Amino acid sequence: MIENVPCRLAVLVSGSGTNLQAIIDRIEAGELNAKIVCVISNKADAYALTRASKHGIPVVVHENTAFPERRAYDAATVEILRGYRVDLVILAGFMRILTEVMVSAFPHAIMNIHPALLPSFQGLHAQQQALDYGVRYSGCTVHFVDCGTDTGPIILQSVVPVDQDDTEDTLSARIQNAEHQTFAAAIKLFVEGKIHVTGRKVRISA
Ligand code: GAR
Repeated sequence: MIENVPCRLAVLVSGSGTNLQAIIDRIEAGELNAKIVCVISNKADAYALTRASKHGIPVVVHENTAFPERRAYDAATVEILRGYRVDLVILAGFMRILTEVMVSAFPHAIMNIHPALLPSFQGLHAQQQALDYGVRYSGCTVHFVDCGTDTGPIILQSVVPVDQDDTEDTLSARIQNAEHQTFAAAIKLFVEGKIHVTGRKVRISA
């Protein structure tokens, strides 16, 4: 990456977009040398689209219902991302598992955030899974995406205490606060060229 040229981000969403908002805020505050070149949603009613539009970011509604199978959907997504000359793909509450069509198009350049300390509590309702298991600590994980469900190399994790009176909502809210910090930190490391991946291991240089 050429120094001082902002890293071109695409943010893929399905819902509310609080993580998207946190990234927008960091960029606007000058804390992240990046530009969100597009926000892509597989849901037409995702509030994340409204957030993006308020900041003048191009949005693409890319519904999966129109595609016969996951690989075809991902191939179309890759086309869109290539069109925007994207350097880094951010999955910010994008509730789909990627196929190798997407993963191989952006090697070690797709990041996901998951609301648990992986490899614990993969998949849906991670916060409820943590409560049901009775853990004292949970948190969030930012990882590179592979073709599994929340299985790719781990970049950063943040620990969040679980209160014995927590509900799924209260724990989710506490974890989301951590997500917003952790995702921005991981993106900053990528933007600064400080992430090095060997197999499953991620090394972060000074
Ligand atoms: C976040 O909590 C994120 O960790 C989770 O969806 C939420 C999206 O919130 N992602 C997953 O569970 C993916 N496995 P947001 O739309 O407000 O950023």
